[in-house]
Amino acid sequence: MAGQFIKKHTKAVSKPVYGFDGVGIHLVESEGDLGDPPFYLQEYVPNDRDFRVFVIGDQAVGAIMRVSDHLTHNIHQGGCGSAIDIPKEMAKIAVQAAHCVGVDYGGVDLLAYNGSYVVLEVNGTPNWHCMQAPIPQFLAEYLILQDKQNQ
Ligand SMILES: Nc1ncnc2c1ncn2[C@@H]1O[C@H](COP(=O)(O)OP(=O)(O)O)[C@@H](O)[C@H]1O
Ligand SMILES: [Mg+2]
Repeated sequence: MAGQFIKKHTKAVSKPVYGFDGVGIHLVESEGDLGDPPFYLQEYVPNDRDFRVFVIGDQAVGAIMRVSDHLTHNIHQGGCGSAIDIPKEMAKIAVQAAHCVGVDYGGVDLLAYNGSYVVLEVNGTPNWHCMQAPIPQFLAEYLILQDKQNQ
C-alpha cells in the first residue's frame, strides 16, 4: 500500500499519527525511507511556505505565513512567521476544515495548491505565535457569548 502510494506520487510526506510542531515529519521517496509504523503518508505538495489560519466559530480571525528553507515550516522547526491578511478563499477553506472535524476553534494548516489551498491538518489546541490579531481576546469573547447562549 505505502509503496504504491509513493510510486503514484513520486514524493510523499510521512507524519506520526499523533504529531505536533513538525516533529517526526520527513520526506519519503522510496519504501526504504519509511520508518516504523504507525505513520501516515500525504502527497508531497511543493511549496516555500505554509499558512496557519486561526478559526473561531464561523470566522477565520487571524493568519500567518511561515517560511523556512526546509520541509517543515513550523515555528518550532525554525520557520519565520509573519501575520498576513486572509484571502477569502483561504478563510472559506479554513472554516470548512474546522467544521469538518467539529471544533469550535482550531488552527488550520494550509499549503497553496492549484490556485487554491490544500489542508494539512486541523489543530484542536493551536498556538497563536506571530498572529497580530488579539486571539486571547477573541477566544474570551467567543466563550462568553457561547455561555450566554447556553443559559
Ligand atoms: N503534504 C505536505 N507537502 C509538503 N509539505 C508538508 C506536507 N505536510 C506537511 N508539510 C510541512 O510540514 C509542516 C508540518 O506539517 P503538519 O501536517 O502541519 O504537522 P504538525 O502537526 O507537526 O505541524 C507543514 O507546516 C509543512 O511545512
Ligand atoms: Mg502543523
